[in-house]
Amino acid sequence: MTFPLYVFDAYGTLFDVHSVVARHRGLVGEQAERLSEIWRAKQLEYTWTRSLMGAWRDFDALTEDALDFAAARCGGISAEAREKLLAAYETLDAFPDVAPALRRLRGQGAKCVILSNGRPAALARAVASAGLQDLLDESLSAEPAGLYKTAPEIYALVGARYGATPDQVSFQSSNRWDVAGAARYGFHAIWINRAGAPDEYFDLPPERFLSTLADL
Ligand code: LAC
Repeated sequence: MTFPLYVFDAYGTLFDVHSVVARHRGLVGEQAERLSEIWRAKQLEYTWTRSLMGAWRDFDALTEDALDFAAARCGGISAEAREKLLAAYETLDAFPDVAPALRRLRGQGAKCVILSNGRPAALARAVASAGLQDLLDESLSAEPAGLYKTAPEIYALVGARYGATPDQVSFQSSNRWDVAGAARYGFHAIWINRAGAPDEYFDLPPERFLSTLADL
């Protein structure tokens, strides 16, 4: 089944957030994987807690805060490493299945857009550096709403922009919590389980379980 509108989470779904530390493993040392995991987990935690308490802080600032916490937990990193890791976050690798999937969907006449917590400028840079600018119609950022996913106001940005009803939207994310939010909102929520993680949020199931975008 195809849909007029395919919406994609950015970080973790289109872009490999762990490619940053993998690129600079030499600067981080043997705790590279642990630092990368804590960095991502804290970045997301901050988006949820700040949305709940109404204390907005932009996604770039939360990414920096989360890196500083992760570094402190892993014995510290140099100022050079911090600078290079944050710079690399602006030019994340896209997963190899992304471009072919977007090309195929657009060839079928679908619109393909990003819906992300990321800042508009950061998303534009990530799309351009990954060479996806000709394969995506637009990037929608949570920033104007002053909230982060899984606030329904963020998923509502899609209908406000395109006039699409939720049942006209196929939403893809590697983040199971994001899939839960999208399913609750009413999208056709597809879990791209890149990490082979166990399922959760059983009351808010995805419509499909995929491991890459190749099977979309
Ligand atoms: C995003 C993060 C949450 O792109 O993956 O919104």
